[in-house]
Amino acid sequence: MSLGDDSKLIIKLEWCSEFSVGVDELDQEHRQILSVINLIQANLEEGVKSPFVSECLTLLTRYAKEHFAHEEELMRQCGYPGIEAHIEIHRSYRKKVVELCQRTTSRDEAVPLELLSYVTSWWNSHILSEDKAYSSRLKGSQKL
Ligand SMILES: [Fe+2]
Repeated sequence: MSLGDDSKLIIKLEWCSEFSVGVDELDQEHRQILSVINLIQANLEEGVKSPFVSECLTLLTRYAKEHFAHEEELMRQCGYPGIEAHIEIHRSYRKKVVELCQRTTSRDEAVPLELLSYVTSWWNSHILSEDKAYSSRLKGSQKL
């Protein structure tokens, strides 16, 4: 699979302090998804194979299991009012990853690019927006 000239438009994401949600452990976990995004991007440029996609999906599944549980627990502890809606968004991520796993098994060639597009938009719309929404509440509760 080749991305042709479009691959030159791909920009490597670098962590910066503006991405922080103010809790070190969550930031560390968010950095992990950033590495997976960069890993997928780097490999898409080379032409990607399904074992690699399966490996990324395994990483993203493990990430979701551990990180979402952690995030949801902290939101619960500080009484974050948006928790139910947030959990629902986490559920939609899990559903999407399962769907992509199934399509990888049936060798759907559209998966690699769709995976990259999904995790990149997850980064932009979820981590940099919906996760930031709990940030001040969580930071406040950690100072108590
Ligand atoms: Fe989240």
